[in-house]
Amino acid sequence: MDIKPDKHEKMETRASRKKKSVIGFFNVCKFYGESDAIVDVSFTISKDDFALITGPSGAGKSTVIRIIYMGETISSGSVIVDGMNLLRITRPQVPLLRRKIGVIFQDFKLIPSKTVFGNVALVLEAAGVRSKNIIHDKVMSVLETVGIGDRAASYPPTLSGGEQQRVAVARAMVGEPKIILADEPTASLDPEAADAIYQLLQDVHARGTTVVVTTHDLNLLEKGGTRVIHLKSGRMVSIVNQDVWNGL
Ligand SMILES: Nc1ncnc2c1ncn2[C@@H]1O[C@H](COP(=O)(O)OP(=O)(O)OP(=O)(O)O)[C@@H](O)[C@H]1O
Ligand SMILES: [Mg+2]
Repeated sequence: MDIKPDKHEKMETRASRKKKSVIGFFNVCKFYGESDAIVDVSFTISKDDFALITGPSGAGKSTVIRIIYMGETISSGSVIVDGMNLLRITRPQVPLLRRKIGVIFQDFKLIPSKTVFGNVALVLEAAGVRSKNIIHDKVMSVLETVGIGDRAASYPPTLSGGEQQRVAVARAMVGEPKIILADEPTASLDPEAADAIYQLLQDVHARGTTVVVTTHDLNLLEKGGTRVIHLKSGRMVSIVNQDVWNGL
């Protein structure tokens, strides 16, 4: 039986054609029991966006990120990611969605017992790449890109925080995802390492990847994004796009 698209899916299909939206939230709510993590949040993010999601602690920033990669389900509303309606996605489609997305966390989430190379290679192995040569070339290429090719054989606990986050960026990039999500990627780093990570994310964006970053970091906010979504107590209080931002 054919499932008819709901109205948001139709809207998004039209919007996707016009503005190449890759992420759409439509009246999304997420409740944990009595507590409201996000309430009636609607926005779209386009393919060519470097989007910043800002707001105080508890505003719902990480919840938005988790919803996009299906680390959480929503309580109501609709979410479309690269044309997939997350409410209608089937279990076998979840890995397909996740392959379109690379995720970077504040606390890196590297596997300490695997080398830097092994941490990054895991993504390709999980995606079914069998050729050891292809894995080697792709992993070494992204490690060089993020500036830690010489640490491929090291274990994460022997690296600085800035270096570990470079590994996490390499891991997010290696599968060539359409979207990179970064949840407070610079919050655990000193200003110099934070700048380096931010620069890497800008480089990834310049090569055509949609980037979504949550942050408290005023430095990052000053550098700006093409779209800035401000949340407070789970609600969206403003969304500023590049045209308005540049016109301020
Ligand atoms: N698993 C959970 N169970 C219960 N409540 C949760 C859960 N995850 C998040 N919340 C609540 O949802 C709200 C939003 O949390 P979220 O982690 O998205 O905020 P945040 O903006 O990322 O905050 P921070 O800047 O501190 O990381 C908070 O009030 C939080 O307590
Ligand atoms: Mg958070």
